[in-house]
Amino acid sequence: MTGRDVEITVVADAEEAARVVAEQLAGQARAGGSIVLTGGSTPKVAYRLAAELEPDWSRVELWWGDERCVPPDDERSNYGMAKNALLDRLREQPAAVHRIQGELGRDEGAAEYRHELEGFDTFDLVLLGLGPDGHIASLFPNFPTLDVTGRDAVGSEAGHEPFVDRISLTLPRICATRELLFLVAGEDKAEAVEQALAGEPSHRTPGSLARSAKGTTRAVLDRAAASRLK
Ligand code: 6PG
Repeated sequence: MTGRDVEITVVADAEEAARVVAEQLAGQARAGGSIVLTGGSTPKVAYRLAAELEPDWSRVELWWGDERCVPPDDERSNYGMAKNALLDRLREQPAAVHRIQGELGRDEGAAEYRHELEGFDTFDLVLLGLGPDGHIASLFPNFPTLDVTGRDAVGSEAGHEPFVDRISLTLPRICATRELLFLVAGEDKAEAVEQALAGEPSHRTPGSLARSAKGTTRAVLDRAAASRLK
């Protein structure tokens, strides 16, 4: 199984993929540092397991790769998902929880997040999902946000469901990490996985542009998501 500058681990199913990622999250929580969480549905199980494996997250700072422009208690909120699956299950909370304030709207929310990130250098672990269209965080295929440099966060229209405005880290900020880790499961992601992990860099598949600039890029996939890789 080959990727372009990516170490790929393939496991039997989504649950096992979640377990591998949970172990890594728990290890990072023990080691300390900074973790960037992703939204979507696939990581939910990984977050729950990570909280069981390591209930003390007091040595890490948490960030998010993207947020939907909804209040934190809205069921579409990425922060809300992580709160339910992870934060509410911990014995010790993270040293800092840098939530993206989606309820401020895409421009003000992005400006606030940029402010929060000022002076911050390199993440230790950035977790990313991958959309069936190849999007990562809230950077969608062929959107102008893919070209934004010199800014850490940007507001965007939605390019995928749920169709609410978004706030996202920009590509250079996502790539400024010691480890970039994709977690992808399901047959409907197989083509996007092929393009993102083995294809040439292309704005048609934002995941193909996401590689750690400061360390390693890894992907944990279930067999279905990996089915088109050679
Ligand atoms: C979001 C995300 C997004 C997600 C992918 C995969 O806010 O929607 O952060 O980039 O990771 O869409 O999501 P699923 O795991 O739900 O397929």
